[in-house]
Amino acid sequence: MDTANASTPLHACFLDEISTDTPRMVRLAGVAVLLCMSAQGEVFAFENRCTHADVPLHKGPWDPQTARLTCPAHQAVFAMSEGGRAAVGPAILPLELFSVTRVDIDGRVSLRVALPDEE
Ligand code: FES
Repeated sequence: MDTANASTPLHACFLDEISTDTPRMVRLAGVAVLLCMSAQGEVFAFENRCTHADVPLHKGPWDPQTARLTCPAHQAVFAMSEGGRAAVGPAILPLELFSVTRVDIDGRVSLRVALPDEE
């Protein structure tokens, strides 16, 4: 496993590899991370796991206009621009958003991924 910690930004992908239409999944430090882009070009990154019942979120509908992702299992809705808040249940807990660092020169997207045992 990668020995990165929360203070080490990890390269996820390039900005032009993320579209507003479809979330992109990458694996960083053993964590499945989903990257979504809003219609305004803001990038959100979070673990690909619903806080309700641990179902992967990557097949859920993403609305770039509202920056909201719907869980494909029980239709909980997470509001990314509100810190990953569960705006519609049954999920109660928010998604944990990772800090996105974008290197403007080459469009490289890097994330700070905090693993549970590092907190
Ligand atoms: S697993 Fe996501 S809402 Fe139930």
